[in-house]
Amino acid sequence: MDDTRGRMTKDGIRIYEQSDFAGMHKAGHLAAQLLDEVIPLVKPGVTTGEIDSYITDRVVAEGATSATIGYKGYKHASCISVNHVVCHGIPGDKRLKSGDIVNIDITVIVDGWFGDTSRMYVAGKPGRKAERLIQVTHDSLMKGIEAVRPGNTFGDIGHAIQVYVESQRMSVVRDFCGHGLGRVFHAPPNVLHYGRAGTGPVLEEGMIFTIEPMVNLGRPETKVLNDGWTAVTRDKTLSAQFEHSIGVTADGCEIFTLSPAGRFHPTYPV
Ligand code: MF3
Ligand code: CO
Ligand code: CO
Repeated sequence: MDDTRGRMTKDGIRIYEQSDFAGMHKAGHLAAQLLDEVIPLVKPGVTTGEIDSYITDRVVAEGATSATIGYKGYKHASCISVNHVVCHGIPGDKRLKSGDIVNIDITVIVDGWFGDTSRMYVAGKPGRKAERLIQVTHDSLMKGIEAVRPGNTFGDIGHAIQVYVESQRMSVVRDFCGHGLGRVFHAPPNVLHYGRAGTGPVLEEGMIFTIEPMVNLGRPETKVLNDGWTAVTRDKTLSAQFEHSIGVTADGCEIFTLSPAGRFHPTYPV
């Protein structure tokens, strides 16, 4: 693993060169393209395992590598988290039914660079509350991204997300966070989706990380099921998540995982 590029901050956060961003764009583009490709598969009657099989085959066909297959014993090319599953849902025999809300999270490795992104889908037509949850979660990610510029801090990102989510009477999950990435999957810092403005490490041009807020309709507490992966809301309320991989530029940031089809947010005609 080549993780010796650029320099490191006192907080252990790697600073990449602008030329490294090209590699991240390529990896991010493939991950986002695969999330576009599965849109027609997410419908009532389809199993999450079938969606994952499609992703597995497409990663191979593109000559890329799944970052999740073999990661700490995980066996699949995606995490598929339905309804009250917060994250790390394991694809399997579960058939989607009408109204299910679904997060699909894909991380691929292209030329050694990691692209990590997730978004929400709906099987059939969502309920009103589910639709609002998805909208608020999407918008909270975008508000976090808007806070990314050199001189701001990681606390500013978390603060922007938390203030918005709580203003909508929903809650931010504390038990999982975003992370640095680049030529490794998970690197410093932990990118919290809550916090106080002006706290945490200062953002610098060349930092690469994910922002991936999980938002619950009910309380923020989660628990991990006996399979060791599946995280669910303790109160069984619905949960949603969106994730982008981004890099800090001189005056803001670049999103590596933009949807090539412009369908990141699920308010498109299916
Ligand atoms: N892609 C997830 C993230 O956003 C990590 C999944 S790890 C797995 O960090 F093993 F559960 F796939
Ligand atoms: Co991630
Ligand atoms: Co992810």
